[in-house]
Amino acid sequence: MIPALALDSITCTFVSKDDRSQRYTAVANTNLHIAPGEFVSVVGPTGCGKSTLLNVGAGLLQPSSGSVKVFGEELKGINRRAGYMFQAEALMPWRSALENVIAGLQFRGVDAERARTQGEEWLARVGLRGFGDRYPHQLSGGMRKRVALAQTLVLDPDIILMDEPFSALDIQTRQLMENEVLDLWSAKKKAVLFITHDLDEAIAMSDRVVVLSAGPATHPIGEFSIDLPRPRDVAEVRTHPRFVELHAQIWGVLREEVLKGYQQQKTRA
Ligand SMILES: Nc1ncnc2c1ncn2[C@@H]1O[C@H](COP(=O)(O)OP(=O)(O)OP(=O)(O)O)[C@@H](O)[C@H]1O
Ligand SMILES: [Mg+2]
Repeated sequence: MIPALALDSITCTFVSKDDRSQRYTAVANTNLHIAPGEFVSVVGPTGCGKSTLLNVGAGLLQPSSGSVKVFGEELKGINRRAGYMFQAEALMPWRSALENVIAGLQFRGVDAERARTQGEEWLARVGLRGFGDRYPHQLSGGMRKRVALAQTLVLDPDIILMDEPFSALDIQTRQLMENEVLDLWSAKKKAVLFITHDLDEAIAMSDRVVVLSAGPATHPIGEFSIDLPRPRDVAEVRTHPRFVELHAQIWGVLREEVLKGYQQQKTRA
């Protein structure tokens, strides 16, 4: 089967603008394939290169070497078959919730009436029926994330790229959002690349968890198939004996990298 997203032998070296001799290889020789409909999480210590990899998949960052293919085709420029959801708040404060959701549709030239109808449908789907007129500052953090989710999914992307989308939320809101994402995903079965540093979240959500090494020259050091039954409730699945077993296995690989990553950040600071 042709992967939805195929990163092959990806290396990303950042060169300092002030001093060209200063280079930092964040990611080295990394392969990552995501099948259509597959939910893959990438976990790794802070600063290891998770966002760098996601940006490569999004076409926002050109790797120093390696190839990116989207459904078998070489990616040139922005990945138009992907939708992104980033860690930082990405809503436009001057637009209402509905106007935020339909921004991408308007950009694509969808007519106003249709965009509005689709936007309202998506707001309802993420539990925000009737909130379309509110501005971002009039919504809670969880609601703003819901708007961002609707904004991403309204475009019906074949690939969804998420970079720690819920890490700023309190645990209850976070679990609600995770379950919502799983419900929406199971209905449409898009390929998902989900970045997180939270191993529990990664296991609860995914079909497969990829563990990255600490930087520099980050690369995958472990890959685990998550054979927990679906549909899953992210809170309940944590008590499943297989969850506990997988967690122990993956943490065995991740733990040392987290400690290394932490030490490196201290010495680079
Ligand atoms: N544009 C850039 N120029 C120079 N160095 C960069 C650039 N972007 C990222 N880096 C470096 O590359 C490494 C990986 O960064 P990246 O943002 O991918 O990490 P991350 O795994 O997403 O971290 P976090 O979990 O904290 O979000 C870091 O050491 C970072 O300082
Ligand atoms: Mg990051």
